[in-house]
Parts: sequence; C-alpha cells; structure tokens
Amino acid sequence: MVLLWTVCVCLCVFAPSLAMPVSRRHNPSRSKVLLVSFDGFRWDYDRDVDTPHLDAMARDGVKAPYVTPAFFTMTSPTHFTILTGKYIENHGVIHNMWFNTITSEKKPYYQTQFVNDWWDNGTVPIWISAQRQGLTTGSLHFPGTASTYQGESAEVSEVEPRFYNYSNETAWRNNVDKVMGDWFREKDLDFVSLYFGEPDSTGHKYGPDSPQRREMVKQVDRTVGYLRSSAERNGLTNHLNIIITADHGMTTIFRNGLVEEITLSKIKGFSFQDLVFHLVDYGPTGMLLPKEGRLEKVYNALKGAHPHLHVYKKEEMPSRLHFKNNDRILPIILWSDPGYVINGYFPVQVNKGEHGFDNENMDMKPFFRAVGPAFRKNLEVEPFETVNIYPLMCHLLDITPEPNDGHLDATRAMLISSVPEDKNSVRDVHTGVFIGLAAVAGVIFSTFVFIFISNVIKRRRSEQRNDNKGKTEECQTKEASF
Ligand SMILES: *[C@@H]1O[C@H](CO)[C@@H](O)[C@H](O)[C@H]1NC(C)=O
Ligand SMILES: *[C@@H]1O[C@H](CO)[C@@H](O)[C@H](O)[C@H]1NC(C)=O
Ligand SMILES: *[C@@H]1O[C@H](CO)[C@@H](O)[C@H](O)[C@H]1NC(C)=O
Ligand SMILES: [Zn+2]
Repeated sequence: MVLLWTVCVCLCVFAPSLAMPVSRRHNPSRSKVLLVSFDGFRWDYDRDVDTPHLDAMARDGVKAPYVTPAFFTMTSPTHFTILTGKYIENHGVIHNMWFNTITSEKKPYYQTQFVNDWWDNGTVPIWISAQRQGLTTGSLHFPGTASTYQGESAEVSEVEPRFYNYSNETAWRNNVDKVMGDWFREKDLDFVSLYFGEPDSTGHKYGPDSPQRREMVKQVDRTVGYLRSSAERNGLTNHLNIIITADHGMTTIFRNGLVEEITLSKIKGFSFQDLVFHLVDYGPTGMLLPKEGRLEKVYNALKGAHPHLHVYKKEEMPSRLHFKNNDRILPIILWSDPGYVINGYFPVQVNKGEHGFDNENMDMKPFFRAVGPAFRKNLEVEPFETVNIYPLMCHLLDITPEPNDGHLDATRAMLISSVPEDKNSVRDVHTGVFIGLAAVAGVIFSTFVFIFISNVIKRRRSEQRNDNKGKTEECQTKEASF
C-alpha cells in the first residue's frame, strides 16, 4: 500500500520532466574548442604547395576560400578581433605598438604584450567570458595572453620568451602535444588558443612568393597533420572542434629603384616640425599627431602627394574600415597601396613582404578551416569577416557572448545543427520518446490504480466472505514491484 503510493507520487513528479527536451538538463552540444592561428597564412598559400593535411581537413570539415581581417591588418589588433568579435576601433588594441604621444615613448610588439592598459581597454577576450560562465581555458603564445583583463586571465597560459625562435618545428610539436595531452585531456580545459609565428616571419624576410615561404607552408601543413593525429591519440576527436585561421596575409614590397618609394620627408610642404608625435616606418600604415593649429597644413601637404599614399583625417575615414571611433587613433591616418611602405626620414624598411594594407586587398586575406563534431563535412562556405569567429566559438562552447560586432548568421551554415531536418528530427525523436514514455507510464499507473481499487473492493468482499486471501496478496506484491 505505501509502496504503491510512492510509485504514484514518483510518476506524478517525474512524468512532466520526462517530456522536457534533453537539452534543458544536459547540453549535448557543448564541445571543446581549439583556436589555432598561423600568423600571416594568406588564403592562397595552399595553391602553389602540396598541402595534403590542409586538404584532408577541408574534406573532413569546412573551408572558407578566405576570410576578411580587421583594418589595420596588423598582428595584435587583428588577433584581438578574433578573440573579442570586435572591430579594432571598438576593442582599442589599435596597433602592435603601445605609444604615448606626450612622452613620445613607443614599445615594440613583444614588450607591448605586457602592457596591461593597452590590451585591457574595456573589452574582455573569450578566455574571460568563458571562465566567468564556468568553463576553463588556456592560451599558448597567442597575442594578448600576457595581459590580464579586469584582473583575470586564461587559467593556464604560456607566453613565449623574449628572443623566441618562432620557426622550430620540434618546438611546435611539443606545444601541440602539451595542448592536446596536458591541457585538453589531463586538465580537461574547454577552450585553448594556440599561436604559431609562421609563415609570417618567413613571408616578411623572403617575400610571399619565395621558395622559403613555400617550405614554411609545408611545415605548417605537417603541423596541421600532427595536430589532428595528436587529438586522435588523446581521444579528443569526438568532442573537440578545431578552428585554424590567421590574422592577415602578406604582399610583396617593391623597392631598390623599381618604384618611387614613399618617404614623407621628401614631400614638398611637409615637415616633421609640424608634428607632436608620429608612428611611421612601420610597414604600410602611419598615424600623425600635428601640433596645435597645423592639422590642415600637414593634411594638405600630404593629400595627393604620392599616387600610392592614402591620407585621411580621422573623422573622414571610410566607415567600412572601422578605424575611426577611438581616442587612441591619431588625427591623421596614412596607408599605402600594396607594394609600398611608408617611410619617415629615409627608406629604412628592409622586409620583402608586408601586411597592414587595406583589408579589401586580396593579399591581406587569411585562410580558414574548421573540423570537429559540430562542423559539416566537405563543405566550402562563403567568405566572411573574422569578427564572426568569436560568436561562432561562443556558440560551440555554449556560452553567452559579450556585445560584439559579429554574428552567428555569418557562419551558421557550417554547423551540422544548421541542417534543419537533422536537428529537428533528432529533437522530435527525443521529445516524442519522452512524451510516449510518460503516456505509457500514465496508462500503466491508471491500470494499477484501477486494479488496486478493484482488489480492495474484492478483498473487502472476500474478507466479508472470509475466503481466497492469499491470491489478493500476490496481486498486491506485483503492483508494488512495478
Ligand atoms: C582606454 O584607453 C584610453 C587611453 O588610451 C583611456 O583614456 C580610457 O579610459 C581606456 N578605457 C577603458 C575602458 O579602459
Ligand atoms: C630556428 O630554428 C630552426 C630549426 O628548428 C633553425 O633552422 C633556425 O636557424 C633557427 N632560427 C634562428 C634565428 O635561430
Ligand atoms: C628546437 O626546439 C627543441 C625543443 O624545444 C630544442 O631542443 C632544439 O634545441 C631547438 N632547435 C633550435 C635550432 O633552436
Ligand atoms: Zn601577424
């Protein structure tokens, strides 16, 4: 009798919850995410080199022909766009170099990694968003790793030493094994960002059309193969989604008399005396802070002075470049066409390859590949802007994104869950099964209540008649064991 009532109470309490979609209680779509950046890997670097592992990754997953980075197409700013989903004017890491216009101090790329105020300017990267929502994250060498954000940083992290050799393949493999074995498998991290400094260095030094760059692309390809086999060895394949992309591309620079180089000091009517501060001699971009009342003079001298030099007042910047609305951006912005860099007093730049140019230029576009349980197979999607990688990663991690400039709609087509029949039929089957179970439980329960009541009535009658007591007890035992 007591047991029967327990069954009744249990069924009444649990039957409704059985009919709820599974995802409310345990989310099967949450997966681990590895974000990999190969610095300066241009979208078409796989066209003149055999890349069997990148090709296999495209067959097993998703490929975009290229993606569009944020402008300035420069390492720290564009990596921070990938980590935050914001355009550079909105996240504030506007240059590889920290600078102070009052003291004229500048810090180069590596030292700027450690300037907290430079990186932590009101936007938190995905490590922090994920950790605040209960996940654990790590980062190896990824730009932005050395800084803290509102006092927080990735739980597990490694920053490269100052004079690091970015091209050592043995070190790359050790790092891959560390991330797969120690971080994902042993420490059970949910998100890791992993950075490789090539083929950027080789592209700068020898140019994007050099045999050295092609060799380095082979090394990247071997590493992609190694990475996927390391995931397999560590039992991660079924729940790890891997995104491989880059911060920008690379283009060949003309010089040595081949073209008229851009050297600001040679421009008629322009004088460094009219400036408080400048940031030039750093690839194809520049920013100038004129002295009080000299902005028009500087602007008029430079505008139209060289056919391959673009000169803009900050407030006139084309809005498509999203490089205007930030106090750190100086009043005059310069950039050159592909092939040209901007020199200050003398031509001092020696790189054969450069980036930093307009993000509409095809040579500035990086590659994109993704593979894992959430991604469709053998699918080439439309190109998209890299601000959209952040909402994609948040979706894969099942976390709420911070406000950002991207949207999941830009990448939704690459997800298995975007194929309507699949997702709905799976959910329908689950819901259907649970509703069915609840209904069956209800029917069985009613039957037993009916039998119980009938039996009670029968027993009362039989007790009255004083016969057949044993049969009733047998019946009650069966009811209670259901
Ligand atoms: C961003 O940095 C600028 C200085 O470069 C500073 O004035 C501003 O307060 C910072 N904003 C936030 C939210 O940290
Ligand atoms: C970096 O390491 C590679 C081998 O792993 C070597 O070939 C190269 O010369 C090294 N570069 C420097 C600058 O030491
Ligand atoms: C490459 O890295 C490995 C592992 O860190 C190290 O043992 C080796 O000395 C490095 N080689 C060069 C040329 O730097
Ligand atoms: Zn870069």
